[in-house]
Amino acid sequence: MTPTTALRHDRVVDAPTTPVVRLRNLTKSFGGAAALKGVSLDIHPGEVHALMGMNGAGKSTLVHLLSGVHQADGGTIEIGGHDQPGLTTRRARRLGISMVPQRRELVMELTVAENVLLGDLPAPHALVSWKSVRSQAARALFDLGIEIDVERTAGELTVAEQTMVEVAREVRRGGKVLILDEPTACLGAEAAHQIRTLVRTLRDDGVAVIHISHHIDEVLALADRVTVLRDGAVVHSGPAGDLDEAGLVKNMVGRDVVFRRPARPAPKDEVALSIRGLCHGRAVERFSVEVRRGEIVGVLGPAGDAQSRLFDLLSGRRRPDSGELSVDGAAVPLGRIPRSLASGLRCVTGDRRALGLIPELSLDENLMLASDRLARRRLQRWGSLTRRAAPLRRSYQVAALTANPAVGRLSGGNQQKVLLAKWLETSPVACFLEDPTNGVDVAAMADIHTLVDGLAARGVAVLLASSSAEEIMRLADRVVVVRGGRIVAERDITTLTHDELVATALGGQPQ
Ligand SMILES: Nc1ncnc2c1ncn2[C@@H]1O[C@H](COP(=O)(O)OP(=O)(O)OP(=O)(O)O)[C@@H](O)[C@H]1O
Ligand SMILES: [Mg+2]
Repeated sequence: MTPTTALRHDRVVDAPTTPVVRLRNLTKSFGGAAALKGVSLDIHPGEVHALMGMNGAGKSTLVHLLSGVHQADGGTIEIGGHDQPGLTTRRARRLGISMVPQRRELVMELTVAENVLLGDLPAPHALVSWKSVRSQAARALFDLGIEIDVERTAGELTVAEQTMVEVAREVRRGGKVLILDEPTACLGAEAAHQIRTLVRTLRDDGVAVIHISHHIDEVLALADRVTVLRDGAVVHSGPAGDLDEAGLVKNMVGRDVVFRRPARPAPKDEVALSIRGLCHGRAVERFSVEVRRGEIVGVLGPAGDAQSRLFDLLSGRRRPDSGELSVDGAAVPLGRIPRSLASGLRCVTGDRRALGLIPELSLDENLMLASDRLARRRLQRWGSLTRRAAPLRRSYQVAALTANPAVGRLSGGNQQKVLLAKWLETSPVACFLEDPTNGVDVAAMADIHTLVDGLAARGVAVLLASSSAEEIMRLADRVVVVRGGRIVAERDITTLTHDELVATALGGQPQ
């Protein structure tokens, strides 16, 4: 250890705090397979403690034990100096543990105000002062610098807004420990910045923040301590300054991960995907773009709003107000899913839980669902299904604890791989990918980038919607920047630096 890191370490060790949470030797198995294999960890007040690790490493499982969602098989949980056997969610909450889970849990039919105060609303038959509910919720949002009308229903909000409402709800409860499980996974730069500012403020107020994220730069900028889990065990825990990016990656993955912008053949001349004047309300306004065979065009903008609407329009789930779509030179009628599919266009949703996968069906069934549907075959018997799914599992490196679990039980990143495998193996002419690496670990991200790159190398036209400028810089040939539903800039990637792209996305002048 170098003298500097030793000094840093001393400072943390000498900090005049006793841990607010002390986890000792926690174990947890699902269906006989170990997700956590004896995890011990201390969380101190006033620290941002990053929990890192690859998809399926056990991060969410660990915070589920601490927040009482699951019960540990073995080990102890101490909160505020007291042992908490058989911890329930209710008790954890009373002890000051708040959590914004990885899977967002707003009640979509209720208003923002009701969601923020959920759990604090009076009993069903009591008199409720809605005016007071609204003003308390508005206050909670205002305190965090969030501008959202509290009378809108949660279902109308963008993913970024939903995340902010959940954060506001948990912060309002004023717990001692705030767990954020991938809060910025699919947020644009602005919302992610808001969350980071909030985390710093809470830390300075003495709250312990457990922050789970796959964004390494974000973790390095924010965290005081970092704990890395691999295969359900702690492989590193220490001050954030002890590890740089490469060291973190190596700890998480067990090897180096290299991101390279691969040399792809130049795109062909033929336009394979043409979108002209697509309009839908205020979410998408006069969106036009052409993508040639073998070309990747990035659509950079905050996840959620314009991007998911583009998914809806291109996949045929919704009919646009106006606009034209053609694939391989043939016009495709809009607003009809079968016509969109028949054209050879594949749209991969960013909302894998609601739209992309059927959580109760098995991993293999989900993998084969698209190809079986396209071939108009009924789902095959087990043996054959598993046999046909096996190569896909291998080439997409889908990892599961048990043989063929329900897809909803897989870790987030593995669900994302299943979703991509399901669509990209059906020989597309063109595809629209919405945030394909949302919530995936660094190694999986590199794998997915290779896959997307391989699609283009095979001559597929790829329209890649992403909230990450890095991702666009790594993959795309051209980029259109979208703000408020409109294209505000279009650039050739080769003439652009990463910083220029970020500046354009954040508020460069429309051109
Ligand atoms: N309810 C469950 N039933 C069965 N297996 C589960 C369940 N919850 C988690 N697992 C398994 O336990 C392992 C750890 O999952 P966990 O969700 O904790 O990973 P993670 O580190 O949060 O990953 P990610 O970064 O993808 O969110 C995974 O292999 C997952 O499939
Ligand atoms: Mg998780």
